[in-house]
Amino acid sequence: MEAKLISGKEISQKIRTEIKEKVQALKANGVIPGLAVVLVGEDPASKVYVASKEKACTEVGMHSEIHRISESTSQNELIDLIDKLNKDSKIHGILVQLPLPKHLDEKEVILKISPEKDVDGFHPINTGKLLVGEKTFEACTPKGCMRLIKETGIEIAGKKAVVVGRSNIVGKPIALMLLAQNATVTICHSKTKNLSEEIKAADILIAAIGKPNFITAEMIKPGAIVIDVGINRLENGKLTGDVEFEGAKEVASFITPVPGGVGPMTIAMLLENTLEAAQSI
Ligand code: GUN
Repeated sequence: MEAKLISGKEISQKIRTEIKEKVQALKANGVIPGLAVVLVGEDPASKVYVASKEKACTEVGMHSEIHRISESTSQNELIDLIDKLNKDSKIHGILVQLPLPKHLDEKEVILKISPEKDVDGFHPINTGKLLVGEKTFEACTPKGCMRLIKETGIEIAGKKAVVVGRSNIVGKPIALMLLAQNATVTICHSKTKNLSEEIKAADILIAAIGKPNFITAEMIKPGAIVIDVGINRLENGKLTGDVEFEGAKEVASFITPVPGGVGPMTIAMLLENTLEAAQSI
C-alpha cells in the first residue's frame, strides 16, 4: 500500500494560523513579538531563507528586522550588533543566519546571543538543556520533524529510530528529542559500517545527509515512517530529498515530500520559538 504523505506545507499553515491568533492576544497586552535576523554577506541560499523568515514573521503580525551586514564585517562589529540586539526590548528572538563567512568565528558568535533570545536553539546552554531533558528553545528543523512524526499519531516510545547524519543543527538534536520520547535511537554517519542494515531496522527513519536520493526503497523497512530533511538541488534545477521518494513511498507507511515536507516546518517552529520568547518576558 502506498505511504500516506505527511504534508509539512499544510501542517505548518495550521500552526501559523494558530500563532497569528496568539500574537494578536499578546498585542492586546501591549507586547509585539520581535525577531531580529542577522545576515552576513551575499550567500544566495541564505538570502532566500532570510527573506522567507521575514515574510512569515510579518504575516503572523510579528515585528521583524533584518540586519544585512557586509561580507567583510569584523568579528567585533558582528558581536557589537548582537550585544545591541540582546539589550533591545523590541527584540525577543535573535537568529544569525549560518553559514558565516570563513573569517568569522561561528561558535563565538552563537555564544554571544543571549540564551533567552536564542530562538534557533544553537546556544550551548540551550543544547545542554536539551541533553539533560529540560525545557528549552529547540532547534527549529528537528523540532519541526518531531511535530511531523506526532501528526502521524504513531506512538514513538519503544520504536527503533535511526538518524542518518550527525550535524549539530539536525542529526544530534533530533536524536536527543527522539530519545526524550523513549525511542531506541541509532545515529549513523559516514563511518558507519553496514549502513543499509542499520537503516533497514528503522521504524522511524530520519534522513539528514545532504545527498540526493541516497536512501532507496530496498533500504527501508516496510511500514516505516520516513522523514526526509534533505533539500538538494539537482542539475536540472529540481529540488529533491535524501530519500528516493517514488520508490520509498511504496514501502513506507508515512513519508514527507521534498519540497513541502520538513522545509516549511522549520519556519513555523521559528515563529513558535519567537512567540514563546515574547510570552516569557
Ligand atoms: N542555516 C541553515 N539552517 C539554518 C537554521 O536553522 N538557522 C540558522 N541560523 N542558519 C541556518
